[in-house]
Amino acid sequence: MWESFKRRLESQFEALFAPVFALYGDHYDFFFHLETIVQTITEAWIEREGGLCGLDALREEDRSWFQSHRMVGATCYVDLFAGGFKALGDHLPYLKELGITYLHLMPIFRSPEGEDDGGYAVSDYRNVDPKLGTVEELREVATLFRQHGISLALDFVLNHTADEHEWAKRALDGDPNFQAYYRMFPDRELPDAYERNLHDVFPDDHDGAFSYRPRIKQWVWTTFHTYQWDLNYANPALLRQMTEEMLFLANLGVEVIRMDAVAFLWKELGTDCQNLPHAHDVLRVFSAAARIAAPATTLKSEAIVHPDEVRKYIHMDECQLSYNPQLMALLWDALATRKTTGLRVAMERRFQIDPGCAWVNYVRCHDDIGWAFSDEEVEAAGFDPRSHRRFLTKFYTGQHEGSFSRGLVFQENPETGDARVSGMTASLAGLEHAIEIDDPAEIELAIRRIVLLHGVIMTIGGMPLIYLGDEIAMLNDYGFEDDREKYADSRWVHRPPFDWERSERRHDNSTPEGRVYQSLQRLIQLRTQSLAFDRAETEFVDVGNEHVFAFFRNRDEHSALIIANFSENPQSISAKRLRNLGLRKTVVDTFKGEVITAGHELDVEPYQLMVLATGSSHAAARAALD
Ligand code: GLC
Repeated sequence: MWESFKRRLESQFEALFAPVFALYGDHYDFFFHLETIVQTITEAWIEREGGLCGLDALREEDRSWFQSHRMVGATCYVDLFAGGFKALGDHLPYLKELGITYLHLMPIFRSPEGEDDGGYAVSDYRNVDPKLGTVEELREVATLFRQHGISLALDFVLNHTADEHEWAKRALDGDPNFQAYYRMFPDRELPDAYERNLHDVFPDDHDGAFSYRPRIKQWVWTTFHTYQWDLNYANPALLRQMTEEMLFLANLGVEVIRMDAVAFLWKELGTDCQNLPHAHDVLRVFSAAARIAAPATTLKSEAIVHPDEVRKYIHMDECQLSYNPQLMALLWDALATRKTTGLRVAMERRFQIDPGCAWVNYVRCHDDIGWAFSDEEVEAAGFDPRSHRRFLTKFYTGQHEGSFSRGLVFQENPETGDARVSGMTASLAGLEHAIEIDDPAEIELAIRRIVLLHGVIMTIGGMPLIYLGDEIAMLNDYGFEDDREKYADSRWVHRPPFDWERSERRHDNSTPEGRVYQSLQRLIQLRTQSLAFDRAETEFVDVGNEHVFAFFRNRDEHSALIIANFSENPQSISAKRLRNLGLRKTVVDTFKGEVITAGHELDVEPYQLMVLATGSSHAAARAALD
């Protein structure tokens, strides 16, 4: 085993050295820091369990394992879904029945009592929240899931710690070594200078990015909440320490590490301190460390920023997986406008990434929905970006006339007018409103919308990620409004306790939960049964109808055409156009389980999703065009 470690250390050394040098090459003690990082990596590898080393070997052979069509992700809070780690293991049959092979558990490490940003204020990277169980139980559940083919994903909240973390406490006690783990300033001179270029992230919480700590008479950098202290990666000792923390996660058996809030890792005066080149260097160090000590581990970036910047984190030497916030936002955009031009143009321009990497596609997550698409594509669709974003917020918070949606506003910035939206998928897609007005036709449309959105993420290139609860069409939970610790954060409206009673009706086709569940399960089966979805490319096509979004998945001679109607009216596509794309007159819609014949036109029902098996005919048509 030493030989294989040595081989990895040698082959990855440059990938490690280069970013460490870029960050700290001008430090007189650069080599000392480099050495301590290598030592940390080696020690973590020595502690790595035999079973995980086996997985390391497998994954080294199959670096793009996450691109397999078998991969279907889900995400949940352990306490809200199951109660604790042990009970989570008991729910394994539910996850397997749905077809889940990847599970992202929301933050589980110790965090302050009361407000803790949903666990994103970590007080201890080594000990879990005692309410959930113990680290040993977590390790056991990770092993159990792995044995059942479910990869565990956990967050690494690396931009900040809670102010209750031991390091922060020592900093508050005046220890200069720990004060250097954070960014703090004795007066307002530098904070004021920085703030000239910063954007507020949580304007409801505090203005600017700094909070005053009278005990040490310092202004502490707090990008998010005042109790979340930003870590100082300009300090090499901190980066070494965090490398150790990350590899601890890897050694628990975590296969995908979600790198939280990566855009904010580096700060430089005169910039907006987002997406700076050194933030990438920091990630490259973590990535190289994982490849050397724990190659079964893959990093996933959480960068909810401009699409051009999102892409820069996706790299074999950085994060091989990335959330796809642009697709998420544009799916909701298409649903509100009933038009798919912006979505198609954006995907044509920006969907392709390094072939060894993959998108994580989602309809919504535990966070708000922000309109994180580029202005150019909004303009290409014929809208003014500023007013269009406002329209979307109004639409999804039910303030626009005729809106079917029931979301809540999140972090409205009165200065810029920017706002984001919170809400469960089903409520945003119209189910809550439809049930309120007790209108079966509206209920039907809402169900179709939920299935449509999931249909796209299930079939497009990358790994789909379902927020558990959405598969049974759970609605908004307004309970947070009466909770002193939560009422100020509307994201809690879409983080309800999992409704196990509702889930019992999942096989009952006469209920919305049954309809949605069975459709999603069917989509997952379709995905895992067809090679057209396995490590296959995605090719977007313009089918000549602006309400319809369409793309092929192609792998060798396997291919499928996905057609998604984003309007509540029936649409048609010219059969000639389809024929030019290599479609035969008679095709099978594998989602509906029906043979269809497109004479002059292909008819698409309101909000219908079609998954047409095209076999080798599309490949042949493409070859002919080439
Ligand atoms: C990420 C998380 C979000 C959290 C923030 C600060 O964006 O997804 O929930 O508030 O980071 O950690």
